[in-house]
Amino acid sequence: MRVLFATSEARPLAKTGGLADVSGALPAALRDTGIDCRLLLPAYPGTLDGVRGARECLRLEAIPLFGGVRLLQAEMPDADTPVYLVDAPDFYARAGGPYQDIDGYDYPDNALRFGLLSWLAAHLATDATALGWRPDILHCNDWQTGLAPAWLRFMGGGARSLMTVHNLAYQGIFPADTVVQLGLPAEHFQMEGMEYYGNLSFLKTGLFYADRINTVSPSYAEEIQHEPLGMGLQGLLAARRDLLSGIVNGIDTAFWNPAGDPHLPAAYAADDLAGKQACKRALQGDLNLVADAHAPLFGIVSRLTYQKGIDLVLAIADWLIARGGQLVLLGSGEAVLEQAVHGLAARHPGKVAAIIGYDEGLAHRIEAGVDCFLMPSRFEPCGLNQMYSQRYGTPPIVHATGGLKDTVVDATPQTLARGEASGFVFDGETPAALQAAVERMLALFADAKAWRRLQTTGMRRDFSWEGSARQYAELYRAMLGAGPGARG
Ligand code: ADP
Ligand code: GLC
Repeated sequence: MRVLFATSEARPLAKTGGLADVSGALPAALRDTGIDCRLLLPAYPGTLDGVRGARECLRLEAIPLFGGVRLLQAEMPDADTPVYLVDAPDFYARAGGPYQDIDGYDYPDNALRFGLLSWLAAHLATDATALGWRPDILHCNDWQTGLAPAWLRFMGGGARSLMTVHNLAYQGIFPADTVVQLGLPAEHFQMEGMEYYGNLSFLKTGLFYADRINTVSPSYAEEIQHEPLGMGLQGLLAARRDLLSGIVNGIDTAFWNPAGDPHLPAAYAADDLAGKQACKRALQGDLNLVADAHAPLFGIVSRLTYQKGIDLVLAIADWLIARGGQLVLLGSGEAVLEQAVHGLAARHPGKVAAIIGYDEGLAHRIEAGVDCFLMPSRFEPCGLNQMYSQRYGTPPIVHATGGLKDTVVDATPQTLARGEASGFVFDGETPAALQAAVERMLALFADAKAWRRLQTTGMRRDFSWEGSARQYAELYRAMLGAGPGARG
């Protein structure tokens, strides 16, 4: 079976969030199941230096609207996974990130930039492809590839298409005249098609035209069929619910492994946690926190956005410090939140460390060095950090939503007695609810034996990609077996 995995970011080549972690690991895990999975990704600056053996494999001279484009074939740096890079410097060779310039503003031509990525994904999935490798499945991810399932149909079909939703909050909505600009058929710009309240929605388009839809946890698949988490698309998603499923993400257990993590000052494993104490000491030292092995140290690594519930943490932070806690926060995002976080650190020298920015090594050292990870997200399609933290012996406190609910076992007397508890799950998006969960955590933290059991239970859980990859393989097979009638 051949799968083209179209994505706008993939670790370690380009990353803004969890989509990159997934794109960097799932294709390789699919290949391990015997599927010929290949990536399609824009060639951003640096991408070409990151891959191995880049060579031209296709030149498309005059694509309507986009002009000439080269397709390069290469291999991912840390695996043999083939990757096709869209070499279109006018669109992708820019200072800044994949979506925004260095000042944090969206590129004004993102519709064209990701229109091109979608167009190419669709083209390569048709029988007319000049590549000599036609996938059976076109696997699209988030709005950046949302037009591909539609284009694939308009081009006359070919591969079956899967649309994976990693986050419904980002929909890729552009003014109506984008339809003409991109040369999309105007007759499909309607409610039963690509239109969303008078605009063109890349994500809605993908959800409407894809043969199947999935999201990154079973709970989120359920939640998005209703208000408020459907974010305006609940009607369409509920109507297509028979074609919608949830597959929880895995994590890269080689890259996130406390027993062999080059970013850590000391290694450790479930049967010997001494190295974790050393990681805590080093982190407190590096970040100018009071050196105190017993102070409960909390950590956050996150995009600073409303989604992540950072404001809830800010609301209880003074209380947390008064209770003897310490807090480390690494993240970047909304200016208001960045300022608030800075302000908090300034109020509590030696107790709160705030690092605004993006730092992969520090993210690992935080996962290892803190006692408890905070993830009170208002919604979370899957979330990866709560899994990283369990693997690092750092029980997380999470809001009962989406993938958080699906991957953390709340510590109750029953789950503790059964040795299943791995963290703390709370209901209700309020500071009081978060505070109550922290109280529960502190009570258990004071009981060294019980705490250790909680840690090691999390560390021994299996979050590897293997199981998720098997579920994707089954989904692909179902799509191929279903016949054209199943297109919905
Ligand atoms: P999302 O994709 O919504 O941001 P996830 O939990 O799925 O949330 O994935 C976030 C990923 O990005 C994790 O790998 C996390 O470690 C990483 N990350 C987020 N912010 C930072 C940061 N400031 N520095 C380093 N890594 C970060
Ligand atoms: C999105 C979601 C996050 C998920 C990630 C990878 O960024 O916000 O919950 O883990 O995609 O699927």
